[in-house]
Amino acid sequence: MNHVILGIESSCDDTAAAVLADGHILSNVVASQEVHRLYGGVVPEVASRAHQENIVPVVDQALKQAGVRKEQLSAIAFTRGPGLIGSLIVGTSFSKALAMSLDIPLVEVHHMQAHVLAHFAEDPKPGFPFLCLTVSGGHTQIVLVRDFLDMEVLGSTLDDAAGEAFDKTGKLLGLDYPAGPLIDQWAQKGKPVFEFPEPKIRGLNFSFSGLKTAILYFLRDKVKEDPDFIQKNLADICASVQQRIVTILLSKLRKAARQTGIREIAIAGGVSANSGLRTALEKMGKKEGWNTYIPRFEFCTDNAAMIALAGYYKFLKGDFASQDVVPDARLEW
Ligand code: KG4
Ligand code: ZN
Repeated sequence: MNHVILGIESSCDDTAAAVLADGHILSNVVASQEVHRLYGGVVPEVASRAHQENIVPVVDQALKQAGVRKEQLSAIAFTRGPGLIGSLIVGTSFSKALAMSLDIPLVEVHHMQAHVLAHFAEDPKPGFPFLCLTVSGGHTQIVLVRDFLDMEVLGSTLDDAAGEAFDKTGKLLGLDYPAGPLIDQWAQKGKPVFEFPEPKIRGLNFSFSGLKTAILYFLRDKVKEDPDFIQKNLADICASVQQRIVTILLSKLRKAARQTGIREIAIAGGVSANSGLRTALEKMGKKEGWNTYIPRFEFCTDNAAMIALAGYYKFLKGDFASQDVVPDARLEW
């Protein structure tokens, strides 16, 4: 083992640690914070406190599972942003302290770049250049990836993220947070019989706030006619909403692929776990002649393996952070 990187992720509501040795993942541990379910969304203050409780046991477990001692680590990679500032502070402070005590380099990682680099966790890996549709609870982006650390955002959301569209729809339907996986499950039992509008947004940008409003008014009108409308039609409503979100995402991705002539197409981020999106991407890929890449579920949602991977490529370039580094909730690319 030449280069052993400990990755630490704490940008939102998952406390995660992973160990990577020479580019191979030895462990990938995540403690998800179930407590937010009670509030129907992530409560930042509660998230920071849970990170504080989780971070030591999670790192400990990641090292144990990897069979690595702290003294064998070559560097610590951590999420500097974007994310919730209180959550980021916990991971950043912990990483700085551990790097200082071990006298090893510290590497700062951009959370969204790391989502893209999750594709290098396992084979098959996309070839450069590729396009990556990164869809999470906080972001929706089409990224042109020229190299591990050379990325350009071609389009992004003007308002809500795709994951937010799932989560906010779920709230209207009375589903628990995060609603994305639940809508996915219900959608598999239903048919997309209800029509929701596709927004007309120029270029490669996205918008989901109009869809949210359309769903709100649709449900309000239907519930007026029949108070049990949601319970009776939950599977069909979920299938219809999911299909619309998927077509919004994929029509822009196809536009980007045609504009750039790139046929290596990847998806990343929590929403890429969606079964409707995965199936539709494969179908579109066959039609368009793409090679498509979808990470395994554990590498789609927030995880530290992707942070360790991003950290590894920066480590190889000698791109280290200083002990003065501070987290940045709105970190730019
Ligand atoms: O990447 P991620 O774990 O965290 C962020 O960086 O935001 O993404 C979380 C988002 C949530 O909005 C969640 O509802 C959504 O990913 N999500 C899904 C599915 N699994 C997670 N959305 C739709 N279908 C799924 N199966
Ligand atoms: Zn994420």
